Amino acid sequence: MRIAVPAETQGAETRVAVTPETVRKFIGLGADVAVEKGAGLASGITDSEYEAAGAKLAGSAAEALAGADIVLKVRRPAESEIAGLPAGALVVGIMDPYGSEAQVEALAKANVSAFAMEFMPRITRAQVMDVLSSQANLAGYRAVVDGAAEYGRALPMMMTAAGTVPAAKIFIMGVGVAGLQAIATARRMGAIVTATDVRPATKEQVESLGAKFLAVEDEEFKQAQTAGGYAKEMSKEYQAKQAELTASHIAKQDIVITTALIPGRPAPKLISAAMVESMKPGSVIVDLAVERGGNCELAKPGEVVTTANGVKIVGHLNVPGRLPATSSSLYAKNLFAFVETLIDKAEKKLAVNWEDELVKATCLTKDGAVIHPNFAAKA
Ligand code: NAI
Repeated sequence: MRIAVPAETQGAETRVAVTPETVRKFIGLGADVAVEKGAGLASGITDSEYEAAGAKLAGSAAEALAGADIVLKVRRPAESEIAGLPAGALVVGIMDPYGSEAQVEALAKANVSAFAMEFMPRITRAQVMDVLSSQANLAGYRAVVDGAAEYGRALPMMMTAAGTVPAAKIFIMGVGVAGLQAIATARRMGAIVTATDVRPATKEQVESLGAKFLAVEDEEFKQAQTAGGYAKEMSKEYQAKQAELTASHIAKQDIVITTALIPGRPAPKLISAAMVESMKPGSVIVDLAVERGGNCELAKPGEVVTTANGVKIVGHLNVPGRLPATSSSLYAKNLFAFVETLIDKAEKKLAVNWEDELVKATCLTKDGAVIHPNFAAKA
């Protein structure tokens, strides 16, 4: 059983799919692990560390992939990589398939079984495999660090001989995994924190972290959480009430961090150009939803914009990738936990149970076809 880890090729991806720790664990399951030279460098992992863990170093992606049964990736293989994937291999990574149906079809044509880690059900057994949570948690942390770095003032209150520095006011919009970590981080850094969400369950979570909750708590709010725990898209009326409530609050904030998402929909627009204009010069907005259209009307993907009135709007892409060593370490553990379930430990060989709910939920392609219910019809 051979596992291949080619270097990431897409954009500025800094993460890597295995760490020396998970290489050792895979070898313990009876696998050979081939890692392309330099694959871990952006995450601070050298080739010699992989080698010391027992990996075989490959001089190229083709060499790593030759004869592989399992290919581990952070991102979906690029079109240029697909031809090099061994037929019949399992390819596991963050596949980002929506809007990329042609690429999913290409994976099917290459006769590989592609697994989308982000489709892992959020059930107890799969918590250890939940890449959305492991990466969103770090993005929430990093958003506060990035916001603080762009903000020209200190966050905590300081009473010094030279005068008192007031505590910064930080507002977190959207309190899922990223937002909760952003609240906790902002609190640790000494800011005065408020937060908002449309799901009622978040009120208690926000308060338990020592922040103040602010939301339009009407009948629609009481119904905003789906059975799956996600937010619904709110009505135009609700959005107007929400904007009215948050507008005056945003004007008084030093840093606003937005994380609001709705599954399968563009990110809700929560901060208008007029709201940005109402903020003080030197204030900062960090938009974590920028890859899904952004929560702030003026955010630009991959850019830090400074507006005419001196507000900085931070739109970094791949925020977990801004902490590559930590995000790779957690991502690699998520991958190991899933791949371990595809291996027969006694026989030391691949043994995929195609009826397992985790396999069914994540498998996009198999035997030359797109099989995932969300894509099969369209393919
Ligand atoms: P997400 O990334 O889909 O959305 C982020 C947040 O934005 C959510 O809290 C959502 O309610 C909020 N939001 C959407 N529209 C908004 C609006 N108009 N205004 C303000 N906020 C808005 O959410 P994430 O982080 O994936 O979490 C979703 C749910 O999954 C949560 O209930 C979380 O606790 C749950 N979860 C469960 C896990 C499990 O294993 N059982 C693991 C991780 C998360």
